[in-house]
Amino acid sequence: MQNYIPASAAPVKNTGTIKLYEKAAFEAMHRAGELTARCLDALADIVKPGVTTQEIDDFVFEFGLKHGAAPATLNYRGYTKSCCTSINHVVCHGIPNEKPLRDGDIVNIDVTLVLDGWHGDSSRMYPIGNVRRAAERLVKVTYESLMRGIAEVKPGKRTGDIGAAIQEYAEAERCSVVRDFCGHGVGLLFHDAPNILHFGRRGEGIELRPGMIFTIEPMINLGRPSVKILNDGWTAVTRDRSLSAQFEHTVGVTEDGCEIFTLSPAGYTVSPYI
Ligand code: MF3
Ligand code: CO
Ligand code: CO
Repeated sequence: MQNYIPASAAPVKNTGTIKLYEKAAFEAMHRAGELTARCLDALADIVKPGVTTQEIDDFVFEFGLKHGAAPATLNYRGYTKSCCTSINHVVCHGIPNEKPLRDGDIVNIDVTLVLDGWHGDSSRMYPIGNVRRAAERLVKVTYESLMRGIAEVKPGKRTGDIGAAIQEYAEAERCSVVRDFCGHGVGLLFHDAPNILHFGRRGEGIELRPGMIFTIEPMINLGRPSVKILNDGWTAVTRDRSLSAQFEHTVGVTEDGCEIFTLSPAGYTVSPYI
């Protein structure tokens, strides 16, 4: 049995109980999510061949500062950057550095801005210059996987419905779903209950209720699903060095479906910046 609690009555920590948020929290999450989305929109004009991922990180930090928001990843569990930049076979948690992006790379930029205590968590893929057809296809499949997962979000559905929708689509497209990382409850905490798996079976998992807020953030590989963590303790890469992609949105469950807090104000969907 899964327990739910009004978020206003819950301690601000991960107790495993699922918080149900009120309207005011949804409005605050909308503001935080929109700011994160605006940051990701602005990055579309910046991210190009020759730009370093450290420059991207600096931009995210400055953007947050300018808008009264802090990057959640900065000093989070020993992580020292304002975003994650995951290139090509890097699955997630790539650490920004001084290496320039190269023509043909695909890079995921994952930003979480904290506004008034609320976390807007989102990531997108950015193709650098001209990318190969296989890479472009992976990016499209991954975006569609996320949106199919989101389409499942409504009261009475279960987390397994989200995972199944993602897995069925990605595998039908001859791609694989990473099992080692998942979406998560989010709000005043960066990572909260429940875990949102990107694979699974319909009808399984916990029931979705109005007021739940969580991320969906599938990582999809062209090759095998298995990953390993590099010696820096963060960078996750595909074991077979195949390409990996990820998109992430933060969503809230409403009475009749869901609200996506991190939609692009510029109207960007799957990397229109090719
Ligand atoms: N933003 C990531 C997520 O989607 C988490 C990054 S944690 C970090 O949950 F420490 F690696 F930055
Ligand atoms: Co994220
Ligand atoms: Co997340």
